[in-house]
Amino acid sequence: MGYTGHRPALDVVLDGLRRLEYRGYDSAGVAVLDGDGGLAVERKAGRLANLEARLDEVGRDTLTGGTGMGHTRWATHGAPIDRNSHPHRDTTGRTAVVHNGIIENFAQLRAELEADGVELASDTDSETAAHLVARIYDGDLAAAVRTVCRRLEGAFTLVVTHADEPDKVVAARRSSPLVVGVGVGETFLASDVAAFIEHTRDAVELGQDQVVTITKDGYEVTDFHGEPVVAKPFQVNWDLSAAEKGGHDYFMLKEIEEQPEALANTLRGHFADGRIVLDEQRLADQDLRDVDKVFVVACGTAYHSGLVAKYAIEHWTRLPVECELASEFRYRDPVLDRDTLVVAISQSGETADTLEAVRHAREQKARVLAICNTNGAQIPRESDAVLYTHAGPEIGVAATKTFLAQIAANYLVGLALAQARGTKYPDEVAREFHELEAMPAAVQHALGTVGQVRELARELADSKAILFLGRHVGFPVALEGALKLKELAYMHAEGFAAGELKHGPIALIEDQLPVVVVMPSPKGRAVLHSKLLSNISEIQARGARTIVIAEEGDDTVKPFADHLIEVPAVPTLLQPLVSSVPLQVLAAEIARSRGYDVDKPRNLAKSVTVE
Ligand code: F6R
Repeated sequence: MGYTGHRPALDVVLDGLRRLEYRGYDSAGVAVLDGDGGLAVERKAGRLANLEARLDEVGRDTLTGGTGMGHTRWATHGAPIDRNSHPHRDTTGRTAVVHNGIIENFAQLRAELEADGVELASDTDSETAAHLVARIYDGDLAAAVRTVCRRLEGAFTLVVTHADEPDKVVAARRSSPLVVGVGVGETFLASDVAAFIEHTRDAVELGQDQVVTITKDGYEVTDFHGEPVVAKPFQVNWDLSAAEKGGHDYFMLKEIEEQPEALANTLRGHFADGRIVLDEQRLADQDLRDVDKVFVVACGTAYHSGLVAKYAIEHWTRLPVECELASEFRYRDPVLDRDTLVVAISQSGETADTLEAVRHAREQKARVLAICNTNGAQIPRESDAVLYTHAGPEIGVAATKTFLAQIAANYLVGLALAQARGTKYPDEVAREFHELEAMPAAVQHALGTVGQVRELARELADSKAILFLGRHVGFPVALEGALKLKELAYMHAEGFAAGELKHGPIALIEDQLPVVVVMPSPKGRAVLHSKLLSNISEIQARGARTIVIAEEGDDTVKPFADHLIEVPAVPTLLQPLVSSVPLQVLAAEIARSRGYDVDKPRNLAKSVTVE
C-alpha cells in the first residue's frame, strides 16, 4: 500500500494493511517520509500485530509525515524473518521498495550488484529493485522506476519512495494487481481497494506494464517507456461494511452466512428477454456455436467448482468437457484450437497458474471465458468473455461464498452454451435458470445446520484424520470438504469418489475413523443412492464413524448414519450448492476448536500470484 495526503501516513497505511493482511501474513512493514529528507522504516516478521507491538516499543514519533507505504508479505524468496521483511532499502537508506510477485532474473541482478560491491541485506529478490532504482536515480523517481522495470523479468507490483521526493509515491505493475484510490487532497495505492475503501470509492485500475506516480492532488500514469496512458477510473460498488466482520467471530463465518446473497448477486441480471447473458462478451455468438470441446482450468477450490461444471456443461450441451488443474494444463500440451472453449475460474483473477493457462490457451487460438470475482483483474482482462460472480469481497483466506458463486456461474456458462448451440430449447433454459433462482433460499435453509455442525465439530476436533466420500457431483463436494479441513484445521483429510474406495483407500478405515459421506438424492439419482448406501455399509462394517449429509426426508439413510445432517432437496446438478455448506462450517469450527485462526491459516495467502 502507498499513501500521500493530508493525514498521518502511518495511521492510513496501518489501517490499509489491516484490511490487506489476508493477502499474506509472514511479515509486515512500513516506511514514512517526514518531508525533511528523512525516510523511516519499521518491519517485523509475523503478523501485523507484531509490527504494531514493535512500533509501540520504539515509539511512533520517528514515523511522522504525510507520505508512506506498507506491505504484508507472503514469503517466496527468503524465510519469513525480520531482515527479509519489506520495505527494503538501498545502502544509503534513501530509496525504499515494497514488492509483490517474483523477479525471475533476480539471481543475475543480484550477482551484478554484488560484483559492483553492493552488499545485500536480505535473501529476497525484492531488495535488488531498491538498489537498482537508487543507482540510477537522478532526481526523477518515476523515470528511475521505469528504467528498472524494463530490466525486470517476472510478475511484480513495486511501490517505491525516495527521501528526496517526499510528496510522491511511485508504483509499477506487471501481471500483479495495483489500484489507485483518489480522495480529496490524498491519493492511495494498493493491491486491493479494500485498503482504502474507508476513505474513497473512486478508484483507477492500472494496466499491464504501467507506472503511476501519486501526489496528494492526483496521479499520473505512463507505460514503462514514459508514454502517457489514460487509465480507467471506476467506482467501487461495495462499502466498508462488506469488508468488516459485522459481529461475527471470524470473516469466514460471515462469508458462509452471506452465501444466499452472494448466489443471488451472481445470478442477477444474467437472464434478460428470455436469454442468458454474460457480463462481457468479446466473442461473436457464432464462436460459441462453433465450440466443439471445453476445458475448465482453475486451482484449489475454484478447480473443485470446475469439476462440478463438467457434470452440468456436459449434460446440458453434449460437449466433451475436461476439467484440469491450471498448474498442469500448459505443461502437457493439451489439444487446443479455435473451436475449443477454455473456461478459466478464479476468484481473485490474479492466480498466476490460471493466468498462465489462459495465456497458453490464447496462444493456441482457443477462446477463453473467465469466471471471476474481481472486477478488472488480469484474468478477465486477458479473456474473450467474462462472467463476474459479484459475490462481494472475501476476506477469509479459505474460499466459501465465492465457491458457491463460481458453481452458479458455471451453470450459467453451461446454459449460455446450450442456448447458443441449441441443445436446449429456450423454455428449457428458462426453466433451469428459474431453478437456479430458487437456490439462494435453499442455501439459506441449509445454513440451518450451523448449530448442529458446530457441536459435531467439537466432538471431532481431536480426530487424527477425516475422510470424505461422494459420487457424481457429490465427489467434488467431498474433495472440497477435505481441502477446507486440511487448510483450516491442519488435519489430514482426503476426498474420494465413493466407488473408488474398495480399490485401495478402504485400507485406511479403522475403528472410529470419521467418514463424511455426501449422499445424492434418492429420487434424482436412485441408482447412485443405493450404490452409496452399499459403500457406507462397507466402511461401517470396518468400524468407521459415519457422518452423512443427505436430503431432508431421506429416511433410508438413517440406519447408515452415526450422525445425520439434512440439507434441503434440490435438483441433482445443483446439490453441491447445499451440501457444501455444512462441510465449510465443519472445517471452520474444527479449526476453531483446535485454537487456530480460521481466517488466516498458516502458510497460505488469498491471492497466489506466483507459479
Ligand atoms: C481454498 C482456496 C484456494 C483458491 C485457489 C484459487 O480455500 O481459497 O484453493 O481457491 O488458490 O484461487 P483463485 O480462485 O483466486 O484463482
